[in-house]
Amino acid sequence: MAKLRAVFRCTECGTSVPKWVGRCPGCEGWNTLVEELDDVSKVSSAALLGKRDAPVPISEVDAHEWQPKPTGIGELDRVLSGGLVPGSVTLVGGEPGIGKSTLLLQAVASIAASGSKVLYVSAEESKQQVRLRAERLNALHPDLWLASETAVPHILSSVDEINPAVLVVDSIQTVHTPDISSASGSVAQVRESAARLVTTAKERGLSVVLVGHVTKEGGLAGPRVLEHIVDTVLAFEGDRHHALRLLRAVKHRFGATDQLGLFEMTQQGLLGVPDPSRLFLADRRKGVAGSVIVPTMEGDRPLLVEVQALVANSELPSPRRSAQGLDSGRLSLLLAVLSERAGVTFEKRDVYALAVGGVKIVEPAADLGVALALASSRFNTPIPEDLVVCGEIGLGGELRQVAHGERRLAEAARLGFTRALVPRLAPDAPEGMKTIRVGTLAEAVAAVGIGDSNSSEF
Ligand code: TYD
Ligand code: MG
Repeated sequence: MAKLRAVFRCTECGTSVPKWVGRCPGCEGWNTLVEELDDVSKVSSAALLGKRDAPVPISEVDAHEWQPKPTGIGELDRVLSGGLVPGSVTLVGGEPGIGKSTLLLQAVASIAASGSKVLYVSAEESKQQVRLRAERLNALHPDLWLASETAVPHILSSVDEINPAVLVVDSIQTVHTPDISSASGSVAQVRESAARLVTTAKERGLSVVLVGHVTKEGGLAGPRVLEHIVDTVLAFEGDRHHALRLLRAVKHRFGATDQLGLFEMTQQGLLGVPDPSRLFLADRRKGVAGSVIVPTMEGDRPLLVEVQALVANSELPSPRRSAQGLDSGRLSLLLAVLSERAGVTFEKRDVYALAVGGVKIVEPAADLGVALALASSRFNTPIPEDLVVCGEIGLGGELRQVAHGERRLAEAARLGFTRALVPRLAPDAPEGMKTIRVGTLAEAVAAVGIGDSNSSEF
């Protein structure tokens, strides 16, 4: 094998230099050089080229090779569109303590129980620690192999030795490749170590799962620099002080990225949440101004979420606009439309709006719900508690119907809501639920009896 040489390459312009310097001689950027292996010049071009992939007619391509294999953890399989694809590399990112190791240990135990050999490499904890945790999680299985290892070459030897179907490396920031002198966790180490694991995954048809820690700011070398070399990036989120955990795909080469997986952290590890709408509405206080229930879609699953708004007098020269779990640009737009098209103004007032439960609502289908929550708080008038609201708002104040209207309302009906405020052309609500149709935002505000209007439908 050719001798490997380290170089420092600029992440901005690609200039490489043999020694680290603070300023790139190519583009004059500061602190842009990272260590890399310069093996290209030493390896013969034939070896680099690899084997030619002969073209075949598309109908003769064997798609089964890319069939996902279920992990047996329902919420994880939902986000992965079925499971782990052999030969793929999945990165699971999340803050320390959120439950990444727990999730993956449960997943590999379940895979082992289904008859496949798995190797869980912990670079952070001893085998004994992992075993103790596995006992608590009821995850002991003879086909689940453990190694406490930080050197990538040793991990690859273990893969050769036991030939698992799935390899978990926990975490990519704590393993290292000795050919690179930078410390574990540096950009160069993380990238090189991941690259070797990716190559092995493709060569052997091995599913590799990498754990990556991210900080609140999304910083730390790892997830960010790896996103383009892995097939799938999952984000594991939630508030460490609450039991709810959300798993979503940020990138997925083998399926949709809009599925949400929901877990609850318990003494027995992570449990899937079968009825998330009920969970999200559990702590709701009824009859409070500024609260509206919105039927959203998370992937193919309807989910009822409470949107809350608080409009307060402001002493600030430019009043505060704060959005949590909602798009702040969309919030500004809705405030402008409320003011210009429905006469609900927010001058000299701070505005706070949030989606309860740590969910993020990105779809415009929640527009009408958010707008009515704002108007409700502005005039201190509660929205009827048995009402759900959905519709997209245009700049003219007109309401547009949203996709999957029937499924959203069916979910609301299931949870006992009896009235739905929807755009004029929306489908009928299911039986037992009254459909209230409105054409504009102003009509919607009037329909729920907000402000000085007397035309309330209620
Ligand atoms: P962990 O999986 O170690 O997080 P990460 O790998 O993302 O850093 O889990 C962290 C927390 O989860 C830890 O504070 C303890 C808690 N926990 C439970 O509540 N129940 C359990 O069964 C397990 C294994 C952990
Ligand atoms: Mg961990």
